[in-house]
Amino acid sequence: MELRGVELASVEGRTVVVRVDFNVPLSGKRVADDTRIRASLPTLHHLLEGGAKVVLLSHLGRPEGHVVDELRLAPVALRLAELLDRPVRQLDDCIGEAVTATVGSGNPGEVFLLENVRFHREETTNESGFARELARLGEIYVNDAFATVHRAHASTVGIADHLPAYAGYLMKREIVALSAVERPERPYVAIIGGRKARSKLGALRDLIPRVDEILIGGGVALTVLAAEGACVGDSEVDEELFEEIRSIRATADREKTRIHLPEDLVIGADLSAEGETRISDARAIPAGWQGFDIGPRTIERFADRIRAAQTLVWAGPLGAFEIERFSTGTRQIGEVVADSDVYSVIGGGETGEAIGRFGWADRVSYISTGGGACLAFLRGKQLPALEALRM
Ligand code: 3PG
Repeated sequence: MELRGVELASVEGRTVVVRVDFNVPLSGKRVADDTRIRASLPTLHHLLEGGAKVVLLSHLGRPEGHVVDELRLAPVALRLAELLDRPVRQLDDCIGEAVTATVGSGNPGEVFLLENVRFHREETTNESGFARELARLGEIYVNDAFATVHRAHASTVGIADHLPAYAGYLMKREIVALSAVERPERPYVAIIGGRKARSKLGALRDLIPRVDEILIGGGVALTVLAAEGACVGDSEVDEELFEEIRSIRATADREKTRIHLPEDLVIGADLSAEGETRISDARAIPAGWQGFDIGPRTIERFADRIRAAQTLVWAGPLGAFEIERFSTGTRQIGEVVADSDVYSVIGGGETGEAIGRFGWADRVSYISTGGGACLAFLRGKQLPALEALRM
């Protein structure tokens, strides 16, 4: 897929509206993980060095059309100013007379960060009047928000009807890296984890015809085990998904895609940092106990499958890795991936965070900044925001 890259735009003396994904974790008034902000720097440096005035649009969280003070972009503006080593002017809205006037009075080389676009409901409904208002702020549009590329919103899709649109460097880098798995070397293995089964079932279904084997862990595995009649104690499961899971299983059998579920699990009474843990058969967890990580036999079996693979995608941690005593599965499997020669693509969000935390970021092939967007690409879904950026 050929994208019209930002290097093709002549930006000197122009005002460039850039959609970035600064949807970053916050800790109070500070940015807890600035990976996504750093990832946007190559595009921002290119524009500023080229003599553009830069107007940044981003969302943060899901405020659903309301102003939510905890989701203001002020902490992001502070961190961005440190990283760019120049002032970032943060405005308190993203449309309106005052915003237009302030941006209009700015000079080339200045950076404006507008307020959370999702404070307006018209952003997520892609309302054309709102998209036109955003477009009025500049002369050129650059989309560098790969992590939001699966959303057809006003700042990702509608705005491109009104301005010449280009892909930023991060957008292009992500598409090139993820495209490498479109014709994968085989065996091609997917690891699917994470807490919520509901958010991963679509991915499971779509990946079945594409991959050779799927290793399932995390909360997803517990719901799949329960759907197959396993006794999972007091573990959190989503019973509404059981029927769909059975049909996904049947599809996997037809397609001869091997699905590997945990054989054993680390169980605890609750998700706290202290208290007794045990190793349990994954299909016979006693009442009062819950599964929070994959166990040693499962780690061994998953590790064998990864060592035999040529291509690997990983979306979702295999246990509650944020708590030390339930982090072994994610840590040991991460180490196997880091030590192997497999072409490994790590989905962003929690999986990327785990890989970063354990120190293997430089030893995997690629960590995407996108969570949902990365999976959507790997599943072969249409990505609406990419359409306007095609050559
Ligand atoms: C993400 O964090 O995956 C992106 O910022 C998209 O966020 P959303 O799922 O709220 O659209």
